[in-house]
Amino acid sequence: MSDVTATEQAEPLRLLSADALRLRATPTRVLVEQDADRFAGFSAQGAGLLLDYSRQHIDAGAREALCRLADQAGLRDAITAMWRGDHINSTEDRAALHVALRQPSGACIGGPAVEQTVLEERERMLAFAEAVRGGAIKSSSGRSFNHVVNIGIGGSDLGPAMAIEALRPFRAGGPRVSCVSNVDGNALMDLLAELEPARTLFVVASKTFTTQETMANAQSARAWIEQQLGAAAIPSHFAAVSVNTAAMNAFGVNNDYRFLMWDWVGGRYSLWSSIGVSIAIAIGREHFLSLLAGAHAMDCHFHDTPWQKNLPVLMALLGVWNINMLRLPTLAVLPYDSRLARFPAYLQQLEMESNGKSVSIGGKPLQHETAPVLWGEPGNNAQHSFFQLLHQGSARAALDFVLPVHSSCGRQDHQDLAIANCLAQAEALLRGQQGADVPPYKQQPGDRPSSIVVLERLTPSALGSLLALYEHKVFAQSVIWGINAFDQWGVELGKKLCEALLPAVRGSTSAAHNAPAVLAHIRALRANSSKG
Ligand code: F6P
Repeated sequence: MSDVTATEQAEPLRLLSADALRLRATPTRVLVEQDADRFAGFSAQGAGLLLDYSRQHIDAGAREALCRLADQAGLRDAITAMWRGDHINSTEDRAALHVALRQPSGACIGGPAVEQTVLEERERMLAFAEAVRGGAIKSSSGRSFNHVVNIGIGGSDLGPAMAIEALRPFRAGGPRVSCVSNVDGNALMDLLAELEPARTLFVVASKTFTTQETMANAQSARAWIEQQLGAAAIPSHFAAVSVNTAAMNAFGVNNDYRFLMWDWVGGRYSLWSSIGVSIAIAIGREHFLSLLAGAHAMDCHFHDTPWQKNLPVLMALLGVWNINMLRLPTLAVLPYDSRLARFPAYLQQLEMESNGKSVSIGGKPLQHETAPVLWGEPGNNAQHSFFQLLHQGSARAALDFVLPVHSSCGRQDHQDLAIANCLAQAEALLRGQQGADVPPYKQQPGDRPSSIVVLERLTPSALGSLLALYEHKVFAQSVIWGINAFDQWGVELGKKLCEALLPAVRGSTSAAHNAPAVLAHIRALRANSSKG
C-alpha cells in the first residue's frame, strides 16, 4: 500500500461498519455464552504462543470482514516488500529489515549481502560478549569486569533494559548489567557511587551517536573513568554500537570494541542487532541466539500463515476493530509476570512512535484514528491501583493480558495465583455485574474487550516470539491505516527547541531569539533556584 489517499484508506474501514452495527445489539458475554466452542473458535497458536481472543467483541462474520480488510490494504504484498528489503520507510528512503537481524544462516532475508553482514557482525558481537562474561577481556587494570552499564535512550535503552530484567533467571555467570538513559544524570550518578571503576565497562548504544541524553551520560561516564583511572584507561572501558564511525572515533572507542548497525534498523526494532550487546553480556551467547530464534519463528509464522490463524495479523485486526469501530482509543497491556515490568514501556515506543501518525504514506491527512494510547503495569499490581477505572470508570479501554503458564522463579504455587487472578480479571471485565438486586455502586457494565497472550514460560525464545508478535502487529496495522511505521518526525521539533533553549537555561545572554514568554519563564526558574 505505497501511495494511498485518505479517502481510499477510509473506505475499507467503512466496510466494517455493517458488522460493528450488527454486533452492537449483542454484548460479548452473550456471544461467549451462546457458543460452547468459543475458545476453540477464537484462539490461535504460533511460534510457541497462544492468543486467546474469545473475549473480544467480534464474531466469525466480523473476523472475515477484518481479514478482507487486510487483503484490500495489500498486507500480503507489504510483507513481501519488507522481507525483500524494499524502502518501505519512504520518508527516510530506507528499508526496515529487522527481520533480517534474527535470521539463521541460509535464510537470505534482505538478500545475500545483508545476510552476510548481519551474520558476521552478530558473531563479532557475541564473541565480545562472551569474552566480557568469561573475563577474557580485561579492564585497563587487568581485572575482569563485574559491572556493565548500557548508556542509551529510546530503542537503545528500552529493549535492552526490558529484556535484561525479563531474563533474570538466564543471567548466571555474567557481570551485573545496568541501563541508564535519562538526561538528569540521577541514574548514572547513583550507579557510579556503587561501581568499582577498575571493573566497569560502559556500552554507549546510540544508532546516531548524537542523541543529547546519551552523549551527556557518556561524557560524564568518560570523565569519571578519566578521573579515577587516567585518560589512557578510556579505550579499555568503553564499547559502542552505532552507524556513526566518525563520532565513535572522536569519542575514542577502541576499534575492537565497536559494533556496527545499519540505517535499515530502526531504533525501536534494534535489540536484535549489536544494540543487544548488553543483553548478550547479561545472558550469554546461547540464550541470545534463542531470543533471536524465537523472534525468527514468529517472523516465519507471520510470513506464512493465513490471516485467520496469524497471531500478529489477528492482533492487528482486533486493534483496528477496537480503535476504529468500537472507538476505544487506549490499550492497557498487563503482564502477569513482574519480570515483564518494563514491557509496557517498551511497547509504548514500539506502538506509539511507530504508528502515532495522522498523515498517510502518500502525505494526505487521515480520516481515521491510528495508534492507541498504550499504557500498563504488571497486572496483579494494577488490580490494586487502576483496575477500578477499568471495571466501573467512564473511560473504556481494550486490554492485552500477557500470561506465562509456568513460574520463572520455580514457585508454581505463586504463578498459579497469578494465572487465577489474570483469568478472573478477564472474566469480570467481560461479564460485569448487573441486575435489579445489585446496588448502583456495585454495578459493572462488563463488555471490556481483552485478549490473553499465553506463553509456556518466560524464556529467551518465548520473549523473542512475544516481541516479534507485537512488532508485526504494529506493521500490519500501519499497512491497514496507510501510514509509515518506521519514521518518527514528530520527535524532532522538541529536540531542536531544546538545543535553542539550552544557552538561555545556562544563563547566556545571547539567547534572545527564544520566545519572550519562555525567556521570562527561565528567568523565574533561575530566580527561584538562586533563592534555594
Ligand atoms: O528521538 C527518538 C529516537 O530517535 C528513537 O527513535 C531512538 O530509539 C532514540 O531516539 C535513540 O536514538 P539513538 O540510538 O540514535 O541514540
